[in-house]
Parts: sequence; C-alpha cells; structure tokens
Amino acid sequence: MPFPPDPLVLGIETSCDETGVALTRGFDLLLDTVASSMDEHARYGGIVPEVASRAHLEAMIPTLTATLEGTGVALREVDAIAVTAGPGLIGSLAVGLSAAKALALALDKPLYGVNHVVGHALVDQLVEGAFVGPVLALVVSGGHSSLLVIDGAAVTELGQTLDDAAGEAFDKIGRILGLPYPGGPHIDRLARAGNPRAIAFPRALTRRQDLEKHPYDFSFSGLKTAAARWVEAAEDRGETVPLEDFAASFSEAVADVLVAKTIAAARHLGLDTVVIGGGFSANSQLRDKAAAEFAAAGLRLRIPPLKYCTDNGAMIAAAGAHAIVHGLPASPLDIGADSSMPLTQLVM
Ligand code: KG4
Ligand code: ZN
Repeated sequence: MPFPPDPLVLGIETSCDETGVALTRGFDLLLDTVASSMDEHARYGGIVPEVASRAHLEAMIPTLTATLEGTGVALREVDAIAVTAGPGLIGSLAVGLSAAKALALALDKPLYGVNHVVGHALVDQLVEGAFVGPVLALVVSGGHSSLLVIDGAAVTELGQTLDDAAGEAFDKIGRILGLPYPGGPHIDRLARAGNPRAIAFPRALTRRQDLEKHPYDFSFSGLKTAAARWVEAAEDRGETVPLEDFAASFSEAVADVLVAKTIAAARHLGLDTVVIGGGFSANSQLRDKAAAEFAAAGLRLRIPPLKYCTDNGAMIAAAGAHAIVHGLPASPLDIGADSSMPLTQLVM
C-alpha cells in the first residue's frame, strides 16, 4: 500500500506500566498522551504485571480518545498503526496489540509491531529530525542497557548488560536506602547535592583483560553488591549513610562506564553521532557527563527531552514512521507479543 509523503502514524505503547498513545505526521509529533499506573505499583516496590495489564485495559480507550480529540484527527485519516510488540510484560503487550490489531482490521490500515527498546532511540527523530546515516545508540532503561548501531532499517547489537540494567541497579539500591519505588529519580535528586568522588565504587568490565572479551558489554550487579555492602558496613558501625555523597558516587560509577564505552564504540566504528534513550537517560549525571565528554571527543550527542525518555506512545509512532520511511513491510495481523523480542528486529 503506497504511503503519502508524511504518513499519519498512530503509536500505541503498553509494554510496562505506561499506556501511551501518540499521533505523528512522519517525524512531526502532533500529540502524545500517557496514562501511568505507577502509583498502583509503588506500594508493592515493583511493577505487578496483573495490575499493569488491567490498568492498560481501562486506560486504552480514554488515552486514544484524548489523542484523537486533542489533534482533531479522525481515526479514518490514520495511515498506519504502530504498536509495541516487545520486549515487555506479556499481558501488558497483549492489551496494546489487541487494540492495535482491532484498529488495523477495522480501518484496513497496515499494522507495524515494533521494538520498544529501539523505539527509545528512534524517538529523538521527532525532536531533532531524521537520522542521517548510521548512528550509535545507547539505550538505558529499567530492563536494558544496550549499545546498538541503527543504520536505516538495520539494527545491530554491539553489546548489552550481562546482568542488571542501569535503571534496575538504581531501583535496587533505592530499595536498600528506603527510597520510594522507582528509586532511580530519587537517587538522581540526592546525587545532585553530593560529591561524586566521595566513595570509590567499582567500574566493571573496564580492565584490559575484560575489555578484550567485553568491549561494549556492561555489568552493574557487582557495583550494586559493593554499594549494598557499603551501606551495611556503615550501619554496622552505627553511622548514618551520607545519602548525597553515596548517591553521587554510585551514579558517577554508572555514568562513567556508560559514557566511556559509548565513546570507545563510536571511535572504533567511526560514527560521529550518538543518540541516548530510555528511562535511565533522564538521569542528570549521565546527561551531564555525556554532554561534556562527547563534546570533548568531537561526537554529536542526541538525547531527547525528559518527557520522551520514559515510556510513551511517541517513541512507538516514531518507530512506525522510521519503518515506513525505510520501506520495511508491515506485520501480519496474526503476530503475537514477544516479551524478549530481539533488539535487531525493528518490526515483527
Ligand atoms: O524506559 P523506562 O521508562 O521503562 C523501561 O522500559 O524499563 O525506564 C524506567 C527506568 C527505571 O528503572 C527508573 O528508575 C529509571 O528508568 N529512571 C531513572 C531516572 N528516571 C527514570 N534512573 C536514574 N535517574 C533518573 N533521573
Ligand atoms: Zn522503556
């Protein structure tokens, strides 16, 4: 089916706790509406999948309606439906996919079941325009810490975390410190008032012999254990944890490794543009360090504003628009959800 030059793409995101629906015209964002069920999960100290699925079911139509009414676009004008097919919570994904399939079938429009993690990088095209040539992407979220090369429709994976994701490590340390869930933004806030050199935390996979085997992989579980032991030891001594310095030193250790490995990858591959995305890219220590060190390394940094870092429908509409621009075929209407969809697969 031929597309108009700037197709109207409806993006639907339901991989975790946010119900997101957005409309874009090509890479121009018209409106992004997000409903979150985080308040319902916070008291459990983590996302409860059944609660998330139920919340998506309740929020789907109101979120869709708000986006359509806010833009004045009628459903029949939409050229394509993009929806998160994975990775994510299977029950949550199923709600968005079912809604998207019903729309695609009723409107007789193509369906694009797209990759959530790659969407975190592609969303920046709504802010700073379409990617020109290959870009290096660092996607850091609650579930992923991955280095990708995005070259048109082709996505290759350079490396990933061998254990915890960056956001996951923050959330686990947040729990140890007694901070509300998710701990990431709270540690960020504390870190801003602390000394990043107060405590020397380990930087995993940065020694020469590790770099040979894992040049672009990450590992945050050793750091998490070291930080947890540090808290325990301080409490055993009857001391209170200096929250600001602790948070700043912990954040510095994570940002340090992420930025150093990303710069090394860009140099090695001769790429001059790096896009950073995902919920953890809201982290101020990472943003500041990346801005300073990428500039010094002569790299162009693309990092979306905070509201497009966490999960939303705009990133999914952007992924759909990207798939259309690069001529990828639409998904069959009988696709399933894939909770561990490979990052090299942009469209299912
Ligand atoms: O991408 P996202 O919204 O959901 C996933 O796909 O995982 O990422 C959520 C993660 C959580 O772990 C949260 O604590 C973390 O991103 N996060 C932050 C900050 N804002 C969100 N971590 C550190 N500093 C922040 N400012
Ligand atoms: Zn995400």
